[in-house]
Amino acid sequence: MLISAIVAVSENNVIGRDGHLPWHLSQDLKRFKAITTGHAIILGRKNYEDIGRPLPNRVNYVLTRNKDFQAPGCVVCSSLGEAIEAARAAGETECFIIGGAAVYREAMPLVNKLYLTKVLAHVDGDVYFPEWGAGFQKISEESYPSDEKNDFPTAFEVWVR
Ligand SMILES: NC(=O)c1ccc[n+]([C@@H]2O[C@H](COP(=O)([O-])OP(=O)(O)OC[C@H]3O[C@@H](n4cnc5c(N)ncnc54)[C@H](OP(=O)(O)O)[C@@H]3O)[C@@H](O)[C@H]2O)c1
Repeated sequence: MLISAIVAVSENNVIGRDGHLPWHLSQDLKRFKAITTGHAIILGRKNYEDIGRPLPNRVNYVLTRNKDFQAPGCVVCSSLGEAIEAARAAGETECFIIGGAAVYREAMPLVNKLYLTKVLAHVDGDVYFPEWGAGFQKISEESYPSDEKNDFPTAFEVWVR
């Protein structure tokens, strides 16, 4: 099973602000949906609460240390390893780490493929993407301009190791 991560990151490494995404990027949401649909996604409890529901047509593995946490329609896991092993045992071919910051920090050493949206702006925020560069090579890149549905221009990149 491939362990992948998917993230949108500003030029100053910001990924979130006040528990939410600090931008609206319609093209990025479409791309996220196209890439992750049909697969397992692994997310932190705070990211899950921001989204507010399980993402459809994906097995949602929600990480929390709270044994009583309920997430209807999701699989609640008490560790990253438990979620990865559950996805593997279910026959998943590619699982996606979808954040937030706490989950990316722990997972990036295990990730072999990174779907990176570079948000081409400096953005105020309070959570950051960790250092991740070692051993990765960029295999594709495409640009998208800002417009009425996309707050900033973006560059979509895929990196593997
Ligand atoms: N730009 C992007 O692509 C992107 C993507 C995703 C999220 N975000 C942003 O990131 C921010 C949220 O990130 P965050 O770091 O604050 O929170 P988070 O990573 O979404 O959630 C953290 C919580 O997940 C649980 N958790 C994390 N690691 C765990 C582990 N190994 N085992 C068990 N439970 C674990 C814990 O929940 P308990 O406290 O319940 O134990 C922890 O408090 C938001 O602003 C969101 O919008 C941005």
